[in-house]
Amino acid sequence: MNSRKSIEECRADFPALKRQRMGKPPIYLDNACTTLVPKQVIESIQEYYTEYPSCSGTRSRHWFAQEVNERIEGDPSKGIKGSRQMIAEFINAGSKKEIIFTLNATHALNLVALGFPFRTGDVVLLTDKEHNSNLLPWLKMQKAGRIKVDFIQPDAQDNFDLDAFEQRLKTGRVRLVSMAYTSNITGYTIPAKAITQIAHQYGALVLFDGAQAVPHQTVDVQSLDVDFLVFSLHKMCGPRGVGVLYGKKELLGQQPHEEDEIEQVLAPVIQGGGTVADATYHDYTLMLPPDRFEAGIQDYPALIASGAAVQYLQQLGLDRIRDHETSLNHFLTEELLNRYGDTGWFRIVGPQDAAQRGGILTFEVKRPNAPGLAADLSEKNNVMIRDGVFCVHAYFNEKFGPQWTRPIAHSEHRMVYRVSCYFYNTMEECRVFLETLDEIFKERGYI
Ligand SMILES: Cc1ncc(COP(=O)(O)O)c(C=O)c1O
Repeated sequence: MNSRKSIEECRADFPALKRQRMGKPPIYLDNACTTLVPKQVIESIQEYYTEYPSCSGTRSRHWFAQEVNERIEGDPSKGIKGSRQMIAEFINAGSKKEIIFTLNATHALNLVALGFPFRTGDVVLLTDKEHNSNLLPWLKMQKAGRIKVDFIQPDAQDNFDLDAFEQRLKTGRVRLVSMAYTSNITGYTIPAKAITQIAHQYGALVLFDGAQAVPHQTVDVQSLDVDFLVFSLHKMCGPRGVGVLYGKKELLGQQPHEEDEIEQVLAPVIQGGGTVADATYHDYTLMLPPDRFEAGIQDYPALIASGAAVQYLQQLGLDRIRDHETSLNHFLTEELLNRYGDTGWFRIVGPQDAAQRGGILTFEVKRPNAPGLAADLSEKNNVMIRDGVFCVHAYFNEKFGPQWTRPIAHSEHRMVYRVSCYFYNTMEECRVFLETLDEIFKERGYI
């Protein structure tokens, strides 16, 4: 994996991988849901609670608060790099002030949906495969009569259709393009740079939902020229309950009152302690970004540990992480297609070429008793994968019909399963998954 750290050395950093059940280790292939956590991240959380369990120095001036503050806001020019700066560097943001800490990607998406100054009739353009977190906030705004939600369909090969996209921008009132950079169903990564170029040409802003991209490949906000980017630390070896909203400086505001901002500026929708410079019984003046968006006492240990998580990934190298996941996915894809590709009841969802799917492999099984494979895999050999709709109800309901998870006839059963790899997974783990799946298929009489 890395000149300094082999995959085995990486695995030794993850306490959860040392667990055993039935005398066997866990085989964790549910990384698109959430990842395991290395000891470096756990230790940094523990250090906060044991060494300096106080609020941050942005509020109090004492010793403990200064220690917290340095670890979050520390400036390299002053000798210590805080997690906000580390995250800014991780996505190549121009300034750490463009990094807003949120609870998760969902929270970040809602902050944009509720805080962006849409004009009635503005269109927000999505793909057909958005996670509920990048669909419901927009549907809610549509219900309130603020915006119109529109969808761009993929081409015949299920790839992003840049021509149709440009046509939509030419003819529609698209104000914001909001899309998953990498799909959590298929693992497919959209042509992000071309999308921002075309959108900007027609005056639309772009938000990328980077929940499945930022943990797995280099995402450079300046090179992409993207306006907003959201992601979650729990999908990249970090603590639970921390997300990031990146926004270009000029879109986050500079005025003390939100009503005085120019028309493209995001307003903070949650207000309270930490967000205001001053207040009277009648009015208040806002702090500058990012503070105006981070209301109330924050989860300081998690914010500090977020720095430890991105440092860990950076040391491994995003390109190596991506290469490793792709090679596991190539192996899995080839084996699954060789074994079941011709059966008529097994199908890989999305592009067949593993190179287009990063570490994600989603497959559909159309057989009696198709649900329940994930539980069986766990029960038999501690193999953990995901089943269901992966929070993308709209797509599956559209493709399979609204009642597809509850078919009347046994013979109509179908279920979708997702295997998602990360840098700590091994070929051997993939082999155990394949053999266990084969055993279950045999037991069920599928083969
Ligand atoms: C593409 C995508 N967007 C958004 C989310 C939501 O992330 P979170 O639950 O951390 O807010 C997920 C989580 O699975 C995701 O895969």
